[in-house]
Amino acid sequence: MKVLFFMLVSAVHLLSQGSGKPIYKSDFSQRTFQEIKREIASYEDVAKAIIDLAVYGKYQNRSYERLGLLVDTVGPRLSGSKNLEKAIQIMYQNLQHDGLENVHLEPVKIPHWERGEESAVMLLPRIHKMSILGLGSSVATPPGGITAEVLVVTSFDELQRRASEARGKIIVYNQPYISYGMTVQYRVHGAVEAAKVGAVASLIRSVASFSIYSPHTGFQAYQDGVPKIPTACITVEDAEMMSRMASRGNKIVVHLEMGAKTYPDADSYNTVAEITGSKYPEQVVLVSGHLDSWDVGQGAMDDGGGAFISWEALSLVKDLGLRPKRTLRLVLWTAEEQGGIGASQYYEQHKANISNYSLVMESDSGIILPTGLQFTGSDKARAIMKEVMSLLQPLNVTNLFSDGEGTDIDFWIQAGVPGASLRDDDLYKYFSFHHTNGDTMTVMDPKQMNVAAAVWAVVAYVVADMEEMLPRS
Ligand SMILES: *[C@@H]1O[C@H](CO)[C@@H](O)[C@H](O)[C@H]1NC(C)=O
Ligand SMILES: *[C@@H]1O[C@H](CO)[C@@H](O)[C@H](O)[C@H]1NC(C)=O
Ligand SMILES: *[C@@H]1O[C@H](CO)[C@@H](O)[C@H](O)[C@H]1NC(C)=O
Ligand SMILES: *[C@@H]1O[C@H](CO)[C@@H](O)[C@H](O)[C@H]1NC(C)=O
Ligand SMILES: [Zn+2]
Repeated sequence: MKVLFFMLVSAVHLLSQGSGKPIYKSDFSQRTFQEIKREIASYEDVAKAIIDLAVYGKYQNRSYERLGLLVDTVGPRLSGSKNLEKAIQIMYQNLQHDGLENVHLEPVKIPHWERGEESAVMLLPRIHKMSILGLGSSVATPPGGITAEVLVVTSFDELQRRASEARGKIIVYNQPYISYGMTVQYRVHGAVEAAKVGAVASLIRSVASFSIYSPHTGFQAYQDGVPKIPTACITVEDAEMMSRMASRGNKIVVHLEMGAKTYPDADSYNTVAEITGSKYPEQVVLVSGHLDSWDVGQGAMDDGGGAFISWEALSLVKDLGLRPKRTLRLVLWTAEEQGGIGASQYYEQHKANISNYSLVMESDSGIILPTGLQFTGSDKARAIMKEVMSLLQPLNVTNLFSDGEGTDIDFWIQAGVPGASLRDDDLYKYFSFHHTNGDTMTVMDPKQMNVAAAVWAVVAYVVADMEEMLPRS
């Protein structure tokens, strides 16, 4: 059935090439969905082979072992750091040794910020040394630090209502955790909003689903025309305690010292490797994760896991001797945590070929047992992806959700390219460790990485090998 089907497809190609229309558009309309369904079903054996190799066979635990070696050797990989550049050089060697093709580095200028020494001590109503992590891009405190009274608020609205009390104070945000997407606004914009009402620093309750007294760092943004004040995150525990103290009428005074420094932009690279397509090498399925991390923990979950299952996807395809019709391209992004810097440049430099990107994939929500795939694309593409997911029946990971996303692939998705990300339902676990000293190999699970790698490899390979690109709107 498969052979007959491909003969039919080839005939259609000749026709459409003859008519001079773009292949990927005209073909879809000429083939029925039943034909496409049959084509996808013909990958059942290949999908099983990938699953067997990744989950039960010789290469089980490989992505976990590889990741452990990198992060134990290099440690965390902050934008602009020597660690990150060492990790990129090691990955370049690794991908070459793995026998992947067109392994190369694409230069990018990235931010270089270092936190330096930092500390916060509560002086009133009692002496208490607090655990803090300065936020990325924060300025330092003046020499000798800042000693100021605290104003605790639970929202930006409350800050506005109490703006007259804010001048000269340290604003402590004790916002409740609702979801990462909503609550992270306080981390990103807390300093700017505090500075607008005359505050001298801001301390933000860590954006965390659960806490054992660990601060969570992350990116924050200053605004032109608004004074830059030092800003750090504090633990959930300290934010709640200061909130209780304030509601009892206690005067709270904190001494804050931060030695953060911003240096000129540094040289870095997006790391790229491929399995070149056999029939449509110009067409691309892009599989990715980011190699940089924050400067705490090991960056194992965020996003070592995503980067390494993406590498694993290409390794598995290669190990099975498979070569898809279009190119399977691995990109390990640099400086995602600083706002998708590497990916933004990649998009600018490669968007001329946007019509030849069939699917962009990024895994960046930790590698916990996936329950399916998040996908953004046209209804027709979604119907096709549902069929592709049915190949993952042996793993019971067949759900296709909406909202395929990722900081690094959103550039392409917003421009109309179908996009996919792994669905991880255990965001509670992810945001317990996210951007903390706890993001280490200890929270990774080899069996879960095996399943995630198999899902990633099957989706990437099948979409790269199907006769047609995924249709767009
Ligand atoms: C893979 O990891 C699991 C969980 O740690 C372990 O039980 C299994 O023996 C490992 N497999 C191999 C081949 O090392
Ligand atoms: C676009 O694709 C062509 C064919 O694969 C390739 O030669 C060229 O380098 C690509 N251009 C960019 C900017 O990626
Ligand atoms: C896209 O790929 C097709 C062949 O697969 C090629 O003919 C076309 O020139 C490519 N388009 C761009 C923009 O590179
Ligand atoms: C398959 O996964 C679903 C969740 O996506 C779960 O509810 C169900 O129990 C699983 N079935 C098996 C047989 O593991
Ligand atoms: Zn990440």
